[in-house]
Amino acid sequence: MGRGSGFGKTILFGEHFVVYGVPGIASAVDSAADATVKKAVKGITVTDERTGAKGYAEKKKLQQLESIERMLKAMNMDPKKVAIDIWLGGNLPGFSGLGASAASSVAIARAIAEEFDLDLRDEKINDVAYEAEKAYAGNPSGIDNTAATFGGLIWFKKNVGEDSNTIEQLSIRKPVEIVIGNTGIVADTKAMVAGVGERKKQNPEKYDSIFKQAENLAHKGRKALEEFDLQKVGELMNENHRLLQEIEVSCKELDYLVELARDQGAFGAKMTGGGGGGCMLALTHGKDIQETVASAIENEGYKVLRTKIGVRKV
Ligand code: MEV
Repeated sequence: MGRGSGFGKTILFGEHFVVYGVPGIASAVDSAADATVKKAVKGITVTDERTGAKGYAEKKKLQQLESIERMLKAMNMDPKKVAIDIWLGGNLPGFSGLGASAASSVAIARAIAEEFDLDLRDEKINDVAYEAEKAYAGNPSGIDNTAATFGGLIWFKKNVGEDSNTIEQLSIRKPVEIVIGNTGIVADTKAMVAGVGERKKQNPEKYDSIFKQAENLAHKGRKALEEFDLQKVGELMNENHRLLQEIEVSCKELDYLVELARDQGAFGAKMTGGGGGGCMLALTHGKDIQETVASAIENEGYKVLRTKIGVRKV
């Protein structure tokens, strides 16, 4: 039996903008998707036991099957001839926006490689998971699979039209507590990415200006993180949320949780990932603020994940 894992992630700066070559910053969270793969007699079966994944797994079933086929092709295997049983689990909740699809693709790719004795390096696993991500995101930037493969805190830039992307590991003085709040709405990343593409085409001037601001924010965010100026990181995250509202990927539930987290003392808060539902992220350095923000969100009936960014090995 082959085994593999992939990190969950949260995006601190630049979701959606990264699709068009604007740099972004993502961090692995200390939860991961795990997979096992066993050779079988006929066809491909998937048993999905990820926590909180019920609605999520059901809604994503078709995209998941397409992603596995894409993954097998990228590994030079014929999906029609391969017979495997896949199991998915781990402590990464199936919340939209936490990179659950990319984490599961990385986990499955690693487990297939182990079961079939393929010697695949992380770079190749990342490429395979990128192919799989196309099923979930349509035109993905690659940030999710990169974070899921390598973990850590990463600076990511899609080099549009080139073969490889810019990926740098960033380091910060120490890990920082965050809270991920889940709206409970399972969002369709593919539709969200396509929507931005449409609106960008219709309003090129407005979008060019917003994209320039997003690029600026990513650079300032990197500097503030490296200087461990969390007040500044929080302010920049708030700014980033405003830009995401302007490109119409936030929603009232995300805005509500973002406001709530700020009112409860978070350094900053923003939606994270594809939006249209899914998750928000609050920067809550120190256990006390983390607990205050997390409990406030839970008291409103939403699920949370208390975790950290900047953890080197998850
Ligand atoms: C999703 O986590 C991030 C998006 O920017 C899509 C992508 O970059 O592939 C919305």
